[in-house]
Amino acid sequence: MITVKGKKVVIIGGSSGIGKALAKRFVQEEATVYLVSRTEAKLQKAKEEIGGNTFILPMNMLDETSVNDVFKQVGAFDFMSFSAVNDETKLMSQIKDMTTDLANRGMEKFWGTFNCCRAAANHINKDGSIVVTSSMAIDRPSKNGASIMNAASAAVNVFAKALAREIAPVRVNIIAPGVVSTGVWTEKEKESFAEWAKNTLPVAHLGTAEELAYTYFNALTNPYMTGTTITVDGGLTLI
Ligand SMILES: NC(=O)c1ccc[n+]([C@@H]2O[C@H](COP(=O)([O-])OP(=O)(O)OC[C@H]3O[C@@H](n4cnc5c(N)ncnc54)[C@H](OP(=O)(O)O)[C@@H]3O)[C@@H](O)[C@H]2O)c1
Repeated sequence: MITVKGKKVVIIGGSSGIGKALAKRFVQEEATVYLVSRTEAKLQKAKEEIGGNTFILPMNMLDETSVNDVFKQVGAFDFMSFSAVNDETKLMSQIKDMTTDLANRGMEKFWGTFNCCRAAANHINKDGSIVVTSSMAIDRPSKNGASIMNAASAAVNVFAKALAREIAPVRVNIIAPGVVSTGVWTEKEKESFAEWAKNTLPVAHLGTAEELAYTYFNALTNPYMTGTTITVDGGLTLI
């Protein structure tokens, strides 16, 4: 595997959930970590928690100028992880009631991924790699009003596979999480999912950000892996 000591890692969505857990892992391995998300206060709090050689860069993934500025500031770098998302659970709607505005918002995850990958492609080192975030729902879509979000995840999946060919030898992989205890959910929702997972999932527990980060780290640092989608869902796709 690639040694990451001293390498530069850009983590979009680094102030919370999977991104923050991944940042901790890279800091343990003595990498230089750039935590990126919108809210400076959240980034600062995460930086204090993570320690190590960590920098914060506030950025809105939907603002092309803001994204390009961040990558210009970072300069040449080695790894990018993208797991940013906003208001995902608030954008659910059955198709009959779905407004065009809501549908456009549901695709924000794709546009954020696109903006960051485009900017990253101009600065990433040739032996570097990118991991983006889809969802297990691309194989087992929801009937609970998440159709647009499921479509956004499917778009991310195919987009990233195309990039794995287009920007090779830079590697690009996709992680498809199942239900994971992160900032996407309220504390009450996490409690209820924990109970559901215990009784329903083959692994009998709710996924943690650290369990996901383990796979993100491996995908980023495995030199023989590109264009692959890895599902990490506690067996949810099976049931
Ligand atoms: N957790 C799950 O159960 C689950 C299941 C399936 C798929 N996924 C996928 O996993 C990803 C979410 O990861 P997570 O669960 O770790 O989420 P999370 O804890 O909610 O973290 C989301 C991150 O995105 C940042 N963010 C939100 N809007 C942004 C914007 N416009 N520009 C830049 N950063 C922004 C947030 O920080 P700020 O607020 O500071 O911007 C935060 O750091 C999504 O792709 C989601 O579809 C999650």
